[in-house]
Amino acid sequence: MDFQQNISLKEFNSFRLDATARYFSRFSSQQEMQEILEYVNKQHPELNKPIVLGGGSNVLLLNNINGLVIKNEIRGITLVHEDDEYVYVKAGAGENWHEFVQYCIGRNWGGLENLSLIPGTVGASPIQNIGAYGVELQEVFWSLEAFHIKFMTPVIFTAADCRFGYRNSAFKNKYKDEYIITSVSFRLKKHPVFHTSYGAIQQELEAMGVTHLSIRTISDAVIRIRSSKLPDPNKIGNAGSFFKNPEVFASKFEEIKKQYPGIVSYELPGGIIKLAAAWLIENCGPAEGVSWKGYRIGDAGVHEKQALVLVNHGNARGEEILSLSTEIIRSVNEKFGVTLEREVNLIP
Ligand code: FAD
Ligand code: EPU
Repeated sequence: MDFQQNISLKEFNSFRLDATARYFSRFSSQQEMQEILEYVNKQHPELNKPIVLGGGSNVLLLNNINGLVIKNEIRGITLVHEDDEYVYVKAGAGENWHEFVQYCIGRNWGGLENLSLIPGTVGASPIQNIGAYGVELQEVFWSLEAFHIKFMTPVIFTAADCRFGYRNSAFKNKYKDEYIITSVSFRLKKHPVFHTSYGAIQQELEAMGVTHLSIRTISDAVIRIRSSKLPDPNKIGNAGSFFKNPEVFASKFEEIKKQYPGIVSYELPGGIIKLAAAWLIENCGPAEGVSWKGYRIGDAGVHEKQALVLVNHGNARGEEILSLSTEIIRSVNEKFGVTLEREVNLIP
């Protein structure tokens, strides 16, 4: 067990914010994790609410952290069970998500291909029920193992326990900051079903000249689309979509559409309409006739190609990005009467 003191978290968060942690430790097994928790619970109760980090690709560090940050590095992939249709695969929470997806594609286990190239770790994937290109984690999720930080007990969660929703789960609500996820198990298909209905995938497959559809070609198409649209955190700090796409009733949507016919939307079951937050943000701004898209104040900004992504141009502070996001929420609300909700986890 190694505790570092006053270290910069710049390399551990994809916004590349230079916040420091008073104490920092990593663990690569459940036993190491328990040792850390036992130590702080018994000897340093002031540190017994640690902040758990995976890849740091969905957090906004608002301040220096005057407590303990622990980084989950539990690795290992195990084939737990298989039958004629499915494989049940368990992955350590600290496995890199994209590498895990590629591992499964390499064995022709289907279901994860549309989720290629999402940054971060396996252990964080259930926290917001990651999703992309027409697929959400909950469609392949089987169960997870977690450890209760205070009671020091291991618990297994089924999909029903996790209460998955759009970019949401019980771990962002009822169980917020209570558990450390140590592994996630997936049920993947031996005879994959392809999800190519998301428009951009079809177009990309055609552009690639693909004649034989496979989970590999779908993954390649998703990687190409994502690389062209989303900023690479190694080049410019960001945490992907900063806000969720808001959902409104059809009546509200019709009202907005009358005034703004160009609005981008998707119909969901039950008379609910999902609005493209990027479009809402692009179509308003800090002043009359100025768009948020590409806007910059100091080193905090809105990405020039994707208005839903806030960026750190270099030395922005978490508070500056937060206050830009507050201004965006205010202006979208004022113009369209729609309240944007942040997707990124704020770390106080
Ligand atoms: P972190 O940022 O380290 O943590 C996120 C939250 O989970 C924090 O609250 C943390 O405390 C908690 N946490 C992390 N690990 C554990 C654990 N083991 N146990 C308990 N709590 C834990 N997301 C999507 O859904 N779809 C996308 O298409 C997508 N695209 C992205 C593109 C870019 C360029 C970037 C930068 C991000 C994108 N994201 C996307 C967001 C991000 O990749 C996911 O939310 C990812 O699951 C975060 O993983 P992480 O390990 O980096 O989590
Ligand atoms: N658009 C604009 N302006 C922009 C960008 C996009 O008007 O600057 C419009 C376009 O019409 C476009 C539409 O918005 O067709 C949707 O854009 P995009 O396809 O880029 O998807 P998104 O809704 O912005 C969501 C997820 C992403 C996920 C992609 C692909 C959320 C909050 N975001 O983005 O997830 O990768 O779809 O499935 O649901 C993340 O969660 O961090 C993330 C990146």
